Amino acid sequence: MEHAHRLVSLIYGQGCSDLNDVVVEDLKRCKVVLDSTGGESAWGWDVLSRIFHLGTKDIVLENQPSSEHEWAAQYLEHCNDVLSEASPVETFRGVVGGIQLPGLCAADEFDEVLARRATVRAFHHVPISIAELGKILHHALGFVERRALSNQEGGVEQFSKRRSSPSAGGLNATEGYVYVANVEGLEPGIYYYDPQHHQLHWRSQVVPRLGDLLSGQHFANDMPVGLFLTSRFDKLWWKYEHSRAYRLALIEIGHVAQTFQLAATVGGMSTWLTGALNESTIEPLLKLENPDEQVIFLSAAVIAMVPLSRTA
Ligand SMILES: Cc1cc2nc3c(=O)[nH]c(=O)nc-3n(C[C@H](O)[C@H](O)[C@H](O)COP(=O)(O)O)c2cc1C
Repeated sequence: MEHAHRLVSLIYGQGCSDLNDVVVEDLKRCKVVLDSTGGESAWGWDVLSRIFHLGTKDIVLENQPSSEHEWAAQYLEHCNDVLSEASPVETFRGVVGGIQLPGLCAADEFDEVLARRATVRAFHHVPISIAELGKILHHALGFVERRALSNQEGGVEQFSKRRSSPSAGGLNATEGYVYVANVEGLEPGIYYYDPQHHQLHWRSQVVPRLGDLLSGQHFANDMPVGLFLTSRFDKLWWKYEHSRAYRLALIEIGHVAQTFQLAATVGGMSTWLTGALNESTIEPLLKLENPDEQVIFLSAAVIAMVPLSRTA
């Protein structure tokens, strides 16, 4: 609350005589307040999305778990705390008099895939093949050749490419960086996926444990492969001025993540996903060349086996 009051005071030019106090230092650390020395990349939307994005980046956990065991204990305690409060009422509870829709006929292939898609949190030391990885990446992020817009259809060359997932303004602002730990035929490391040429470009050797990058979720340390999804905000700034477009960045990433999950499921794999990222630790590993590209989400695949543990 103190931070919010100080921010309002700063905006209206009141009470800002001491720009080095602790509260202002916090605001500077989160890049909500900047020194006027410049050097920072400009934020292309209005301040609404900037406060939200920077204020929710790099959430520091007081006690970030340092092992799977610590994570499980903390998560259990958290769930118990949550369950001690009455749960929110379901929208459909107590709703009567609806129009009954026809039931489903025999399950088709699509039903099967949807039913098989599930989040697992048990990762075994089993590699996936480079062919399996290539297929998932192509479906999630690759361009679908036959859907490219021609000039006659008003296609601008740079934005004529289409993915199997929808993209805000057709800008394909989402990019993917593959975390490779156990893929046959690929050195462990982080690679950029080039959707145009269906190629991987080596970025860095993975040094930290995944749990240290993902808010202490150490059960993910044995994950064979994952896809960090980033958004090129500058592309969205270019076309859409209002902070509302920040929502579009997140929604587009959600679409790509779901396509990744379904592609992996079709390939007989199980999947995991997380938005609990330690962004400032991850971004240097991805070697992002553009300061306006930010990491948002991780979608992961694992060879399907009987899940050892599943939590909500
Ligand atoms: C936006 C989003 C963020 C999620 N983040 C996490 C996460 O940080 N860690 C995790 O273990 N699961 C995460 N999940 C997975 C959910 O817990 C899971 O989808 C939910 O329990 C329903 O289970 P199902 O995916 O098997 O249907 C996330 C799911 C979504 C959609």
